[in-house]
Amino acid sequence: MDSLIQRLPKLELHVHIEGTLEPDQLFSFARRNNVSVRYPSVEALRSAYQFKNLQSFLDLYYEGTAVLVNEQDFYELAMAYLKKVADQGVVHTEIFFDPQSHTHRGISFSTVMNGIRRALIEAEETLGISSELILCFLRHLDEADAFETLKQAEPYLDQIIGIGLDSSEKGHPPSKFERIFAAARSNGLLTVAHAGEEGPPEYIWESLDLLKVSRIDHGVRCLEDNSLVDRLVSEKMPLTVCPLSNIRLGGFPDMRNHPLKKMLDRGLQVTINSDDPAYFGGYMTENFLSTQTALGLTQEDIVKLGHNAVESAFITKKRRDTLHAQIDHLVHNDDM
Ligand code: HPA
Ligand code: ZN
Repeated sequence: MDSLIQRLPKLELHVHIEGTLEPDQLFSFARRNNVSVRYPSVEALRSAYQFKNLQSFLDLYYEGTAVLVNEQDFYELAMAYLKKVADQGVVHTEIFFDPQSHTHRGISFSTVMNGIRRALIEAEETLGISSELILCFLRHLDEADAFETLKQAEPYLDQIIGIGLDSSEKGHPPSKFERIFAAARSNGLLTVAHAGEEGPPEYIWESLDLLKVSRIDHGVRCLEDNSLVDRLVSEKMPLTVCPLSNIRLGGFPDMRNHPLKKMLDRGLQVTINSDDPAYFGGYMTENFLSTQTALGLTQEDIVKLGHNAVESAFITKKRRDTLHAQIDHLVHNDDM
């Protein structure tokens, strides 16, 4: 099973580039940029990564971004992530970035964008891993701030495949961003939104009906609403589930209680992703392995998860067909 997981061509559809900042890298950027860190060592910082809920994580996650200052920092951050996951058999990744977490510190949109983009282009050439970028709006900020950010993104719209919605979910319903999502769609951008991570099933309904999303990020709380599950199944709506994240943020007491298997069995188009791998204890392979072990996922489940990711990605039909065929080939030529 470990070998199947390793060899499966994997697609990561839910990862925040700021959440790939490893503690040792954080310290080295801090030294280089003369930014002070309030932890004495890498170990001390790592041991602070014990979260009660989403907000307790977000506080440290935003604090960590302070060390990202120059284009080179964003380039190295993205490159390190891409190298790591290319080694794990990830062939395509759709990466979130939070421009407001940088522009609010005086870092220009272009610094962020140019650094990340340089890494994506280089990684495609040297590692053979393809990528897309999704601009996420911070939902704890207001609509005007989101519109200002979309304006800053205007010169780069051909380099962004879509927009998303992240940060503190509770109390910040998707409806707050209905107009910015409409504006982005009219600019040809696809839309996704974090919903039903900590927030209620109603936020998933709103994401579908008001934001017209192509995917729901997390969505694990959909199981509390049967008619919502029926709708998600009938629309084949992708859900980008992040198992280690859900456990680390206290969504479920431990991996054996994670609903991923239940969701698969209900016919939901579930995918496995890492969210913020530097903070939650694992990248793609670790997310697959820990769910497989805890939930007793079968070979069939793993293959289904592989096909689901291919089906859910923002890629061409040609690439989709090729990847589906690669997964089928893997299974037919396996003696598992
Ligand atoms: N949820 C909301 N906002 C986030 C997350 C998440 O899992 N990761 C980074 N920003
Ligand atoms: Zn996320």
